[in-house]
Amino acid sequence: MLGKRLFKNIKQLCQVRPIEFTLAKGTELAVLPSIENAFLLVEDGIIKSFGKMQDCPQLVDAIEHDCSEKIILPGFIDAHTHLVFAEPREQEFVLKIKGATYQQIAAAGGGILNSAKKLRALSESELFERSLPRAYSILHTGTTTAEIKSGYGLTLADELKMLRVARQIGTHTPLTVKTTFLGAHAFPEDVKRDDYLKLILEEMIPRVAEEGLADYIDVFCEQGFFSVEETISICETGKRFGLTPRLHANQLSNNGGVQAGIQVNAISVDHLENIGTDEIQALVKSTTIPIALPLAAFYLNLPFPPVRKMIEAGLPLTIASDFNPGSSPSGNMPLIVSLACIKMRMTPEEAFNAATVNAASALQVNKQTGSITQGKFADLIVTKPVSSLAYLPYAIAENWIDQVFVKGEAVSLPH
Ligand code: NIG
Ligand code: FE
Repeated sequence: MLGKRLFKNIKQLCQVRPIEFTLAKGTELAVLPSIENAFLLVEDGIIKSFGKMQDCPQLVDAIEHDCSEKIILPGFIDAHTHLVFAEPREQEFVLKIKGATYQQIAAAGGGILNSAKKLRALSESELFERSLPRAYSILHTGTTTAEIKSGYGLTLADELKMLRVARQIGTHTPLTVKTTFLGAHAFPEDVKRDDYLKLILEEMIPRVAEEGLADYIDVFCEQGFFSVEETISICETGKRFGLTPRLHANQLSNNGGVQAGIQVNAISVDHLENIGTDEIQALVKSTTIPIALPLAAFYLNLPFPPVRKMIEAGLPLTIASDFNPGSSPSGNMPLIVSLACIKMRMTPEEAFNAATVNAASALQVNKQTGSITQGKFADLIVTKPVSSLAYLPYAIAENWIDQVFVKGEAVSLPH
C-alpha cells in the first residue's frame, strides 16, 4: 500500500521488538514487550515508527485510525498448514466419534489416501478455487503469513499441481506463502513401497526443485507411514536440491522422529504429542524449533505435547494450526492460541509469542514480519475494543478481530 496510515490512541501495541530479536526461548516467552497508549505510523506498507501517544507526529497526509480501547498485534504466522485440499472428511469425523483411531481409518483407505483420491480428480484451477476461500478465511482470522504443504497428490503430477496451487495462493491473495513438498505424507495404494520411495527421491524432489515450487521438504515420520531411515534419506536428498527439512514427528508414537529431525538439521519438528525427556534434551542442544499443533491433538483426542517441560528446558516453543481435512479442520489462529492456553497451560503472552515472533523464525520470514519492528511489513491485527490481552484467548470462539492489514493494506474479501 502506498501512502501513510497513522494508528492513534492504541490501548496496547504488542510484540515490539528490535530487528535482531529472533526467538523467545524458555522464560523469555512469558514477556510480550508492549507500549501502552501508543501510536504506530505505517508508510508504503512498512512500519515507519511507533511510540507513546505523547510523541505521535502530526500529519496532514495520513489515513488516521482511532484505536482507543483496541490492541494491535503483529499478524499471525501459521508455520504448519495443509490448506490446499479437495474436500472435507466429515464422514471420518463420525467414525472417530464411534471409536475408530486415526491409524485404523488410514489403514482402511481413509485419511490421507481418501484426500488424495479426491484431489487427483480435480484440475489445477478447480483445486485453486476450492482452496482460495480457506486462504481468505485465515486472513480474516489474523493470519498474514502461512506455510502450505503438498502431500495429498502422491503422484508426480498431483504433487506438482498442489504446490503450484499453493504458490498461486501466495500470488493471488494478500497472504504471504511458504511452500513445503510433502510427497512423503503416505504410501499410495497402487504403488509398491520401494517404487514410491524411488519416485520421491529420483523424480519428485528433482522436479519440485527444478520448478522452484517448494521452500521446504517434510516427511510424516510415523509408524505405518515413513520410517526414521526413510525420513533421513528423503531429507538428505531434499537438502541436496536446496530444500530445508521440517518434519511431522512424534505425533502418534515416540519413534525417533525428533532425533531424525535434529540429525538432518530440520528447521522445525512439528506435533510432538509423544516426546520425553530425551527428545527435549536433544532439542535443547540443537537449533531445531519445536512446533506444537494443539488443535490436532484436541481433535484426535491425543495427549497434548508437554509444553511446560519444553519451556522450562529453555526451548523456543512455537504453535501452528495444522489446518487439514482430517485432524485439524480449521486454520483459526485465535482458536489455536486459546487451546494453547487452556490445554497446554501457556500464558497469553507465551501463546502470542509462539504464534508470531517464534513462528516467523520457524518460517524464516522474521526479517520481514512477526513483530512490531521498524522496517518490517505492516502485517497487523487490530482488535475490537477489549479489556486486556488476556481477554483474547479467554473469549474463545468470539471474533475479537476488527481489522487485518497485510503490508499496510486492509484485508477485504475478493469481489
Ligand atoms: O499433520 N499427520 C499427518 N498429517 C496431517 C493429517 C493429514 C490428514 O489426516 O489428512 C497432520 O495431522
Ligand atoms: Fe500436518
